[in-house]
Amino acid sequence: MFENIDFDSIDLTQAPPEDEPARQYYFIAKCRQYVKAETECSGHALTAAVVTFGCQMNARDSEKLSGILESIGYVLTEDENADFVIYNTCTVRDNANQRVYGRLGHINSLKKKNPHMKTALCGCMMQEPSVIEKIKKSYRFVDLIFGTHNIYKFPELLAEMFESGTGGGDGTHRMIIDIWQETDKIVENLPVERKYPFKSGINIMFGCNNFCSYCIVPYVRGRERSRSPEDILAEIRALAKDGVVEIMLLGQNVNSYGKNLENPVTFARLLKEIEKIEGIERIRFMTSHPKDLSDELIQVMKESEKICRHLHLPLQSGSTRILSAMNRRYTKEQYLSLVEKIRKEIPDIAITTDIIVGFPGEEPSDVDETIDVIKKVQYDNAFTFIYSKRTGTPAASMENQVDEAVVREGFDRLLKVVQDTARKRVARLEGQTLDAIVEEVNEQDDRLLTGRLSNNTIVHFPGDKSLIGRIVPVYLKECHGFYYVGEIQS
Ligand code: 5AD
Ligand code: SF4
Repeated sequence: MFENIDFDSIDLTQAPPEDEPARQYYFIAKCRQYVKAETECSGHALTAAVVTFGCQMNARDSEKLSGILESIGYVLTEDENADFVIYNTCTVRDNANQRVYGRLGHINSLKKKNPHMKTALCGCMMQEPSVIEKIKKSYRFVDLIFGTHNIYKFPELLAEMFESGTGGGDGTHRMIIDIWQETDKIVENLPVERKYPFKSGINIMFGCNNFCSYCIVPYVRGRERSRSPEDILAEIRALAKDGVVEIMLLGQNVNSYGKNLENPVTFARLLKEIEKIEGIERIRFMTSHPKDLSDELIQVMKESEKICRHLHLPLQSGSTRILSAMNRRYTKEQYLSLVEKIRKEIPDIAITTDIIVGFPGEEPSDVDETIDVIKKVQYDNAFTFIYSKRTGTPAASMENQVDEAVVREGFDRLLKVVQDTARKRVARLEGQTLDAIVEEVNEQDDRLLTGRLSNNTIVHFPGDKSLIGRIVPVYLKECHGFYYVGEIQS
């Protein structure tokens, strides 16, 4: 692992190696010299902020960016008034893009006060050509832009940025842009800085082949690529040695893990291997596509002591007509019978979902169908989204886009049902004592700790912060909507 690498002993008089990750280690060593020189020059430790938008995949990518920034000598901070700021962007809905533009305006004003400040943009939004055009035109002060396929090249790109110098948009400034359309390259063993010492996300696959007709992800994240089971298991073993007890396996569609490997292996088999790793006590995963969820997986979950009692199973719509236009490749009835099968085998499982309201052609009667599924499934939680038109996707050019007021009406109606059913469903555990992993001190009240049950429900309870990272039994005293207030049982 990279911890053993002595970056200072890398010979920078030689040309950079061709092979990864040695090539990136070389550039880490190079960047360390720049950061050291700037630190001496400015007289203060250089700070760097990594700001994450979007999903768990981005959160994990941000840990990689943080690891690299730390290894080149930056001190990490959450304050955006830093010497280096990078936005790891999301583009799944248009409001994610708008948030980034808003924040860039703020960065511009900070940069005027600190001309040495450097800024970078990466992530899904950068894979869209129209975004790059807009940034080139209206946000000239940005120093570095890269996409989702070459994040491993971050040290090399940083070195290029340091070499070219920055100039705060005064004409001498060069914006470095490196966007790839596709890659099958997966580079292992780069530095990672975990946000939590006791839990970690692990990418098991990248990209998506499903092409749901509303979704931009396959265009910005590329085709499905699975990491080898050996690499995944080695990473998890190293994490366990480092004190990690809970892991979250990440992929856009984990149920199709392993299909494209030279020696194909199923997701269920991978889980069985992970389960054997000593020290790992909890295993989570997301996201599951209903069309690919196998009986083998249900059995492995049922028999497992470690796989958490939670399944995120995006529904998107309960109307078979809309599901077909969405290219989801299951019907309302197939989804319901899948849920029934899962609940029969694993009765205590919590099921959560994603729902889109306002897909082109959706009628109020289609929303009724979705509401019917919500009532039948009794989700523990549902993330509801208003359909957002993403240029380049098939749905964006459908003619029957729904009127905004009609969408709003359907959304509000659906949200009310989601909240009412989830509140009742979550409350079913009142009076029970269940294990919770202690995650942090409560943000609002520092006498309380915040923990998470196997089924992903949050519980707040009095306790000392020395318990963070431990799994403790908690009596679930009162349910407050989506979370519990409880007490540790000794
Ligand atoms: N509009 C609204 N929601 C979307 N999602 C994906 N694409 C869109 C879109 N164009 C939602 C889906 C997915 C979640 C991550 O984001 O519900 O499951
Ligand atoms: Fe998007 Fe569908 Fe792939 Fe999920 S499965 S990332 S919704 S295309």
